[in-house]
Amino acid sequence: MTTKPRRSQTWFGDFGTLGFTHRSWLKNQGYPDDMFDGRPVIGICNTWSELTPCNAHLRVLAEYVKRGVYEAGGFPLEFPVMSLGEVLMRPTTMLFRNLASMDVEESIRANPLDGIVLLTGCDKTTPSTVMGAASVNLPTLVVNGGPMLDGSSRGRMIGSGTDLWRITDELRLGQISLDDYHDYESCMSRSDGHCSTMGTASTMAVMVEALGLTLPGAAAIPAADSRRRRLAWLSGRRIVQMVEEDLTLSHILTRPAFENAIKLNAAVGGSSNFVIHMLAIAGRIGVDLSLDDFDRLGSELPLLVNLMPSGEYLMEEFFEAGGLPVVIQALREHLHMDALTVNGKTHAENTASAQAWNHEVIRPLDNPLKEHAGLAVLRGNLAPNGAIIKPSAASTHLLEHTGRAIVFEDYDDYHARIDDPALDVSASDILVLKQVGPKGYPGMPEVGNFHLPKKILEQGITDMIRISDGRMSGTAFGTVVLHVAPESAVGGPLALVQTGDQITLDVGNRSLHLHVSDDELVRRREGWTPRPAHAERGYVKLYLDHVMGADKGADFDFLVGGSGGAPILKGNH
Ligand code: FES
Repeated sequence: MTTKPRRSQTWFGDFGTLGFTHRSWLKNQGYPDDMFDGRPVIGICNTWSELTPCNAHLRVLAEYVKRGVYEAGGFPLEFPVMSLGEVLMRPTTMLFRNLASMDVEESIRANPLDGIVLLTGCDKTTPSTVMGAASVNLPTLVVNGGPMLDGSSRGRMIGSGTDLWRITDELRLGQISLDDYHDYESCMSRSDGHCSTMGTASTMAVMVEALGLTLPGAAAIPAADSRRRRLAWLSGRRIVQMVEEDLTLSHILTRPAFENAIKLNAAVGGSSNFVIHMLAIAGRIGVDLSLDDFDRLGSELPLLVNLMPSGEYLMEEFFEAGGLPVVIQALREHLHMDALTVNGKTHAENTASAQAWNHEVIRPLDNPLKEHAGLAVLRGNLAPNGAIIKPSAASTHLLEHTGRAIVFEDYDDYHARIDDPALDVSASDILVLKQVGPKGYPGMPEVGNFHLPKKILEQGITDMIRISDGRMSGTAFGTVVLHVAPESAVGGPLALVQTGDQITLDVGNRSLHLHVSDDELVRRREGWTPRPAHAERGYVKLYLDHVMGADKGADFDFLVGGSGGAPILKGNH
């Protein structure tokens, strides 16, 4: 138990005009006097929005968190923050991740809160809220909204996102009718929750559980399962205790916790977006983490979880098979099992009785789905600051390959020419896309797994090497080199590649090499000029002025670090 004065009492413990004001206006919601008596005030930071379909049920979950908070003697106050809906926001939610994190940070800092529950779901709603909360460093617990139930149509399992690419290609090639296409569309999203594959949202749910920020087993419980609401209720109880124990985020988000998350991301076949968000969160909480840590710690580990896009099943099967606690147990010799989690116990204690109920979905360590499945970090004259590839989602025969570059100067150029019958391209070529990095697009969209030329698809070929400074949807697959840094928009070597250049991808040697002499690259650079800025005012201007490279988590330079706790700001009365 902490004897530290409650932060909220600075607002509610005053008996002059300030305290009167703070209590009186809140009482218009029917709160009795004893809510202000010094009990922990819990902020329920809600990313609910009808524009974020994956989070549309979070108001319901918030009510369950409140039950737990009241029951444990706390005072819950729910507040909205910017919600980043992956499927509707343009140009890309990643453009707004840092803005949302600032909303979270300042909403917490400015209000009479002692502890925080983050309600998250869709891809960016998890990292943005964790980043913001990490900069304040109060006791904080995450309740994620849970995945959708399995999609299924015409006897075929439909995974969110992953099957979207396949179905769209089948329609383009005339292999399915428009009616089939619409039917798949309806069947894919059949319940509350986020994408059902091991896409970015599921990866983020696994990440926060691996980091110790959720109650055990939280990642995989389907949104529609009543146990999701029970989890929310229990989380409400627990956050009150965390305030009493002063168990702040920095006690949980330690270097060993990040190492655990990197290793577990390899074992579950998590999204490549994991890298950029982990780097940003580490920067906020002051943990020294670099791009190379992801390769060094994760790349040799096996893929144990058989979920799309790397495998066959969906989050519902992962939950039924035992979820992340089983994976933690399976990987225990590689993990820091003494890492503390929000329930005050270690991973070792939390997973001691975990049992795998389906070895096809969660494989044992001695029979993995794939060996060496973690993300690989590539370097070379094409990516001096690094690039990443997800070998578990790539074609094995392309992991060591030299080919001719076919260059698209930006996404518009790509759209204009990709299906042109006159495009000179063969399956052994390497497709290069520029201007899709953090500053270039702007916002670093998930276009790195761009479609192959129609003339290649018609040959029955479904994968080619693609290289860009963009990201890839966690639900996607292919031999796709991503996050090339420095990005083309700031004059990284990617900007200098021309159609016809030879490029070698050698994942085994972690190399990405452009076969162009240094002298020729210098000559090309002299002729290169940056494009005009995308904006001269507003948030996008702020973003362009301050966003760092993908290798730094694409956070804003001025947001790295925290506020040194949660200092109480001056009053306004
Ligand atoms: Fe929200 Fe996939 S679109 S999680």
